[in-house]
Amino acid sequence: MVYPYRGIVMETRIFSNKDIEEAARILKTGGLVAFPTETVYGLGGNGLDKEAARKIYAAKGRPSDNPLILHVSKMEEVIPLVESVPEKAKLLMDSFWPGPLTLILKKSAIVPLESTGGLDTVALRCPDNALTLELIEKAGLPIAGPSANLSGSPSPTEASHVYHDLAGRIEGILDDGAVGIGVESTILDMSTERPTLLRPGAITLEDLTEVLGEKPDIDPTLLGKSMEDGFVPKAPGMKYRHYAPKAEMILFRTLEHKGAESKVRESMAKYLEEERGDSFQKKIAILCAEETKPLYQEMAEKKNIRLKILGRREDPLSMTHNLFRILRECDEEGINLILSESYPEEGVGFALMNRMKKAAGQKIILIK
Ligand code: TXA
Ligand code: MG
Repeated sequence: MVYPYRGIVMETRIFSNKDIEEAARILKTGGLVAFPTETVYGLGGNGLDKEAARKIYAAKGRPSDNPLILHVSKMEEVIPLVESVPEKAKLLMDSFWPGPLTLILKKSAIVPLESTGGLDTVALRCPDNALTLELIEKAGLPIAGPSANLSGSPSPTEASHVYHDLAGRIEGILDDGAVGIGVESTILDMSTERPTLLRPGAITLEDLTEVLGEKPDIDPTLLGKSMEDGFVPKAPGMKYRHYAPKAEMILFRTLEHKGAESKVRESMAKYLEEERGDSFQKKIAILCAEETKPLYQEMAEKKNIRLKILGRREDPLSMTHNLFRILRECDEEGINLILSESYPEEGVGFALMNRMKKAAGQKIILIK
C-alpha cells in the first residue's frame, strides 16, 4: 500500500503485552509507538527528544504550535520535568493518578520547546493502563503522546482506529483492546494563580472541587464564549475543529432535558421534512440513547435512517465510551448527515457534550 506521506512508508507492527521490551526499545531509539490508555490511544515518542516531537507532529499532520502531553509512570518522574510541584498539584496527583487527569505546570529546561509547542509550561499525565505504565518504566522516559489519530479526526478508542489513521507512519501499535472512557483526559492548568479547567474529561469539576476545596476557574471558551468574540482557548488544541466526522452533524437540544425527549424527535422530523425536503437523498444517522431509542424506531424505518445508540442517558460514561467509535463508524458507512440528541452538561456530561459540540462544529438547534 502506498501512503501519501513525505515518502515515509514503514511497516507498522502490532504489539501485545509480550512485546513491551521491543516497543520500549523503539521509543528509546527515537521511533514512534502508539499506546493504550484508559481514555484514548496515544501516539508515543521520547518526550525529551525534539526530533521525536517533530516526527509526532508530522505523523499526525498536526500544527506544531499544539503542545504534547508527557506521560509518566509515577509521580516522582514529574520532578525533573518541572520547575516545582505546587502542593495542590501534589494533592491532585495523589487523588487521581494513575487516571484521566492532565496537569499543566511550569516546565524545566530538560523538556524541549518542540514538545510544548514553544510554551514554558508542560502537560503531564499518568495514564491508568498497566501495559503503558510498564512501557514507560521499561523505556525509562516520559512518553510524549497526543491522541493517536490524524489531526482533525475523532480520537482512536481501539487499536484498529490507530491503524486506520497512522499505518505506514509509525513503527508500532501496542494493542490492549478497546479503551474504557473513550474521551480524552481532563486538563487542569496549575501553572497559573488559580487552577483553571482547560478541557473537561472523566475527572469532573465536582471531583476537582472536592480535592482542591474550591471550584477551579473554567476556560471561558468551554462555556460558550467563542473565538469570534475574541476568546481563545488556553489549550491550543481546543481551538481546532476536532473530533469531527466527515458528515455534517447537528445537535438538537431543549432547555430542559427531562420530559422533552419526544420534542427532540419531532424537531428532527420537522427539520428533515422542511429544511431539506422529502426528496432529500443524503445518508442519515440519528444518535440517541438506549432509553429514547423506541421514540425513533418508526421514523428510522420509514426514512431509511440509521439509529446509533450512544449509551444510557443516566450514565454519561457509557456514552463517552462509544462516541468516537460511532463517529468513525458513520464515516465508514458513508453517512453524510448526523442528527443527535443532547444531554445535560453535568458531571461527565460536560465532557460528553464538549466533544459532541466540537464534532458538530457548534451547530445546535435549540428547541423552545
Ligand atoms: O487522554 C488524553 O489526554 C490523551 C491520551 C493519549 O493521554 N491525549 C490527548 O492528547 O488527548 P492531545 O495532544 O490530543 O491533547 C492534548 C491537549 C491539546 O489540546 C493541547 O493543546 C493541550 O492538551 N496542551 C498540552 N500542553 C499544554 C500546555 N502546556 N498548555 C496548555 N495546553 C496544553
Ligand atoms: Mg487529540
